[in-house]
Amino acid sequence: MPRKKIVAGNWKMNMTPAETVAFVSKLRPLVDDADADVVLCVPAIDIVPALTSTRGTCIEIGAQNMHYEENGAYTGEISAGMLSEAGVKYVILGHSERREYFHETDEELNKKLKKAFEHGLTPILCCGETLEQRNKGITLDWIRMQIKSDLFGISDADVAEMIIAYEPIWAIGTGMTATSDQAEEVCKAIRECIAEIYDDYTAECVRILYGGSVNAGNAAELFAQPDIDGGLVGGASLKPEFGKIVRYK
Ligand code: 13P
Repeated sequence: MPRKKIVAGNWKMNMTPAETVAFVSKLRPLVDDADADVVLCVPAIDIVPALTSTRGTCIEIGAQNMHYEENGAYTGEISAGMLSEAGVKYVILGHSERREYFHETDEELNKKLKKAFEHGLTPILCCGETLEQRNKGITLDWIRMQIKSDLFGISDADVAEMIIAYEPIWAIGTGMTATSDQAEEVCKAIRECIAEIYDDYTAECVRILYGGSVNAGNAAELFAQPDIDGGLVGGASLKPEFGKIVRYK
């Protein structure tokens, strides 16, 4: 079975609830006949309006983060159970901005992944290297280390259903998109790493996305690579251009 492409938007800290509803109504006709899975990962306050305004469409809603505990005294946090009961299907975990600004560790991410699976959420696990790491030639070692620590103790069945996003930090929000060869090299290495930890079947099932300055002009070439199953799109997911990325062919 060929893997179904997926194009996920990461709105980051953008869009009010009213803007969410207005944006979705413009996006709906642009993605109606999409071959790819379409996901919008929106700020927590926008989740309910996004779910309501996308009901009956092919657009699924994702969160951008969650806590690893079931519930409790964690002011400001949101739990996997809350997301799943609301109707959220996906959750981005380990975005480089959360790792950098909120000091998220691989150990915490491992706990978050387990909790997400427990509640039937599909994680979009992010990994990626800095420019300094790339220049030192340690990109693949670094990515393998992130994947192995984040997935520690997670079952092959769960990994087969999840999504991994390769997002080189130097390509995020910079307009410096990785070339399709650079992106494919790392996405292929991630798939090989999954085959090594689990087996070939699991590696063939897991969907691996590229993220970092994806736009309507470069999506087709990136998504045509054998190990790239779609994209995680930041800035361009806030514009009608997102509809073109979804229909990249
Ligand atoms: P940009 O598409 O704005 O580079 O952001 C990528 C990203 O961080 C998606 O998670």
